[in-house]
Amino acid sequence: MASPDVLSAETIQLAEESLRRCASEQFFQAFYKRLLQSDAATRAKFAHTDFDRQNKLLQHGLGLLFTFAKRRNPVLLERIAARHNKQDLDVAPAQYAHFEESLLRTVREFDPEWGPALEDAWHRAIAPGIAFMAAQHGG
Ligand code: HEM
Repeated sequence: MASPDVLSAETIQLAEESLRRCASEQFFQAFYKRLLQSDAATRAKFAHTDFDRQNKLLQHGLGLLFTFAKRRNPVLLERIAARHNKQDLDVAPAQYAHFEESLLRTVREFDPEWGPALEDAWHRAIAPGIAFMAAQHGG
């Protein structure tokens, strides 16, 4: 049996297919609504955000997280990680927990196929990229 830490391509594919079922304007709106409710520090960072643009950027960003989980190539996430680090947006590592929680709750709401296997697949598909980004915070 494979070790629980070994990520199979099928696991990432489950998350990719789930995102395809969910990804709509309403989905991203619901996600950001949740994320912004998670704490005041997070809300403050999005005070001037154009969410029509941000939704597309996040969809692309999620795709990069999935690819990173498969290939672990730092180049994939270097630019986004630099944008979120202490010198720029200053997203503290703890804020990534809110990101994952808000995202998974929103997928649960939008994906009719939601269940424990999908929850596990989503976690595995985004955790390596989140860990990378949090580690690049620099503070
Ligand atoms: C792994 C998780 C995350 C991914 C994949 C992600 C992805 C992105 C991407 C692709 C952008 C656009 C960058 C650009 O302008 O070129 C962005 C911007 C941003 N992200 Fe994240 N992000 C993540 C986590 C977070 C968290 C936890 C916060 C919490 C505060 C956050 C706050 C922001 C803000 C404030 C912006 C700028 C929005 C603006 O332009 O007004 N991000 N993010």
